[in-house]
Amino acid sequence: MFITFEGLDGAGKSTQIGRLKARLEAAGRTMVSTREPGGTPVGDSLRHILLNSEAEAVAPKTEALLYAASRAQLVAQVIEPALTAGKDVICDRYVDASLAYQGQGLELGEQGVAAINQFATGGLRADITFLFDVTVATSRERVENSRIGQPLDRIEQRDNAYFHRVRDEFLRLAKLEPDRIVVLDASNHPDDLEEEIWHHVEKRLPVNKII
Ligand code: TYD
Repeated sequence: MFITFEGLDGAGKSTQIGRLKARLEAAGRTMVSTREPGGTPVGDSLRHILLNSEAEAVAPKTEALLYAASRAQLVAQVIEPALTAGKDVICDRYVDASLAYQGQGLELGEQGVAAINQFATGGLRADITFLFDVTVATSRERVENSRIGQPLDRIEQRDNAYFHRVRDEFLRLAKLEPDRIVVLDASNHPDDLEEEIWHHVEKRLPVNKII
């Protein structure tokens, strides 16, 4: 199973990724958990260019291509080999993030961003995606509180209008693909979110593989 987590920064994805991983392992599944941008040596170098606030201006199309390049490397080096070996993969962000942050956030449009990602991933799609929905105000507040004494990264420095476009696009994608994208209210208690996520994952597990 290929599971992705999406949402604005500060929505609490990392906590839930850890909890889901533990539950899948307890159910006897072999897991690989990774993140974007990054997850490979090449991807980590691209992550540095993309997020380093000192980096010189990166043009919007360059940004979309670099995220797609990091993704292509991750698919080839980590995700596909793991799925082929029968492992489950959890990825912190995937193609939906580019459609939201670059396609709509940067106003590059859906078509071009979808096309470069189709090329980058060879069309590999997540089986299930958890969208952590949080208001822009809450996301901003959580990010700023977590970065005390540290500069915001290149993406985090963008204005509220940018993040409204990102959130709206995530929600639009969820409406288009309700069978794949599960929208979670990220303001719920972490224990409740864990149960909700597990409910959706468990029912997709092959019955004979649950211990
Ligand atoms: P993330 O790893 O979630 O941030 P952090 O390490 O600060 O928790 O994501 C890094 C940033 O990259 C985040 O602001 C979202 C952005 N991003 C895109 O703009 N497009 C993409 O395709 C991806 C994967 C991430």
